[in-house]
Amino acid sequence: MPKVTPDLFAILNDPKAEAVLAKLYKAALKQGWTMVFHFLPKAFKLLGKGVNWKTENEQFYDDKYIPIVPAQGTFLYMQARALNAKNILEFGTSYGISTIYLAKAAKDNGGKVISTEYLSHKVKAARENIEEAGLSQYVDILEGDARETLKNIDTELDLVLLDGWPDLVFPIFKLIEPKLKKGAIIAVDDVEGFKPSMQDYLDYVRNTENGYISMTIKPNKGMEFTIKVK
Ligand SMILES: C[S@@+](CC[C@H](N)C(=O)[O-])C[C@H]1O[C@@H](n2cnc3c(N)ncnc32)[C@H](O)[C@@H]1O
Repeated sequence: MPKVTPDLFAILNDPKAEAVLAKLYKAALKQGWTMVFHFLPKAFKLLGKGVNWKTENEQFYDDKYIPIVPAQGTFLYMQARALNAKNILEFGTSYGISTIYLAKAAKDNGGKVISTEYLSHKVKAARENIEEAGLSQYVDILEGDARETLKNIDTELDLVLLDGWPDLVFPIFKLIEPKLKKGAIIAVDDVEGFKPSMQDYLDYVRNTENGYISMTIKPNKGMEFTIKVK
């Protein structure tokens, strides 16, 4: 992740949101060495074929931010604005960094973000961070397991960020797939580092017969970028 400077977030044109993002990214950077030591033994896999999520200890991540990088947030904000996305969905809130980018787009587009997270201390912190950013009215965080909380989504979706645990990307995608509008964008983080756990998703969205076009893009970090075309 780059050094945190105010210009990283200037595109949002929102001093409150920018200040909160700067604070949160600085806190995330402080976890940098812990993350480096955690991933060091798996460096070859991470940079090669990717790590299988099943080998990970989920508890290690209980207090980790593991956010999208600022270039990804900026890119998603721009895509949401380009689409005039009003109904945005996120799987994996964590401390609310990505949610703030999406919420600012929702505010600018006259829309709303639904995000979901199952760790209650993260939900509480994310709500506080989003409140501090002045964006609470544009976000609903559903506390609980996404496999339950996203079962009854009743809006058609313009843009989706799937950023929960990698092995749930495809099941969660299939759960919300009936709600995707034609032209919807689906972004998935960590597709390179955890590729073995997302191969099912990648095989599906890269098969144009399923009605999608998709590729990995790299706004500083690999992210699968899919558009529903049918
Ligand atoms: C990579 S982090 C999300 C980072 C966040 N999108 C950001 O950019 O700041 C993944 C989050 O998904 C949450 N998560 C994982 N599996 C989940 C599930 N089944 N239901 C809800 N949340 C889940 C984890 O607790 C974790 O906080």
